Amino acid sequence: MTNKERFLQICKTEIKREGLDKLLDWLEKSDFYEAPASTKYHGNYAGGLLEHSLNVYDCIKRIAANYEDKNVSAESLAVAALFHDVCKVNFYQKGYRNVKDENGKWVQKEIYEINERFPIGHGEKSCIILQWFFKKLEVHELLAIRYHMGSFDAAVKGGDFGISKAYEMAPLAVMLHLADLEATYLWEEIRTI
Ligand SMILES: [Fe+2]
Ligand SMILES: [Fe+2]
Repeated sequence: MTNKERFLQICKTEIKREGLDKLLDWLEKSDFYEAPASTKYHGNYAGGLLEHSLNVYDCIKRIAANYEDKNVSAESLAVAALFHDVCKVNFYQKGYRNVKDENGKWVQKEIYEINERFPIGHGEKSCIILQWFFKKLEVHELLAIRYHMGSFDAAVKGGDFGISKAYEMAPLAVMLHLADLEATYLWEEIRTI
């Protein structure tokens, strides 16, 4: 099974939310299934974003299994994990950089670069995009997606305390951040493309 087939299978079996079909139509027409997850960090290759979304799903399922008492639904785990980074859809483009090859000669190397068309914040942007399609996102899903970057979030670095309240209110938000960290730094690789 390809990553795309697995992604669609999880969506269709775990998510019963109105608007899923429209979201999947939009993703189909976007670069979601071929996009990288970053320009030079983890998942910086074609398909990296899809792979990362599935890795975060696998991590969050294992984390949530240790906290069944928190009663986070399978649907919320899928929504949060699979779509937390939709802010990166139509966000990267291919470009070129001059680098030296092994003989010390300058050559052009193909790289990914960012082309942000909707600069409204990382987690914020994912929340907004998802609300264009899903009829309703639950509050804990919004908090989880908004704050999935944890202390790497720009607002948190600037002294915003909303994240503490969000993590107190929403076990899903803590789980998503842990899963995102685990997938990114313990599972995924950086490639020189
Ligand atoms: Fe992210
Ligand atoms: Fe992520």
